[in-house]
Amino acid sequence: MGEETKVPRHIAIILDGNGRWAKQRRMPRGYGHIIGCQNLEHMCNVIKDRGVKYLTVYAFSTENWKRSRDEVEGLLKLFRQYLKRCMRSAKKNKMRVKIIGDPSAFPQDIQDSIRLLEDCSKDYDQMFFQIAMNYGGRDEILRGVTRMLEDAREGRLPEDGFDDGKVTEELFERYLDTAGIPDPDLLIRTSGEQRLSNYLLWQLAYTEFCFVDVPWPDFHEEELEKAIEQYNKRDRRYGGVKEE
Ligand code: FPP
Repeated sequence: MGEETKVPRHIAIILDGNGRWAKQRRMPRGYGHIIGCQNLEHMCNVIKDRGVKYLTVYAFSTENWKRSRDEVEGLLKLFRQYLKRCMRSAKKNKMRVKIIGDPSAFPQDIQDSIRLLEDCSKDYDQMFFQIAMNYGGRDEILRGVTRMLEDAREGRLPEDGFDDGKVTEELFERYLDTAGIPDPDLLIRTSGEQRLSNYLLWQLAYTEFCFVDVPWPDFHEEELEKAIEQYNKRDRRYGGVKEE
């Protein structure tokens, strides 16, 4: 009897290749981001319908500020429009949305939209959608350590957060932006690059990686199915002994 396909509980995606996709069509990079954003809205529904509970996407890294002013401004404009539309899809899909990263670098109106979106979706539980904006894995860890030290100084760290004097993983994870969210089972990076680019450095410790050649605007249902198929072929060992 054939085994049933296992659907990953949490998929993380690095949405790469918008710029190259646009260049191939002799269009400005910003056009690639617009189509990439449309594809994200479409694929978010597809991924939900496929039974995936958690989706985390990399929309803007702490390094992306170094791009041209035009490109950064285009992305900020896209975020403004997208965050508003996302309120509607969050309601429709009963989807909780959380922004991971440090929003304080964004213009005030974007910060306000983020707060509104998180607040209006906080009681939904049909899907959990994390958008990484001004996110860097190292930055997340350092912000977490800083807050943990503050709590230590104020005597607020719980005794059960230590094992033989050593901070436990459970305690540290409470200080990450992803607190309460299970680690990704599958990471997908589109457009051929095979690196993490400072994404979810702590959380990806045991995740299966799937690097695909198609740029993000061309990543559709068929590519998702192939990635899930690849995930199913892998042994997930967690450093232990493989189950027979
Ligand atoms: C990487 O492609 C993509 C980004 C830096 C931005 C990702 C943004 C989107 C998909 C759209 C907006 C998303 C939201 C959540 C509103 P790239 O520009 O690095 O492409 P390249 O590697 O071909 O240059």
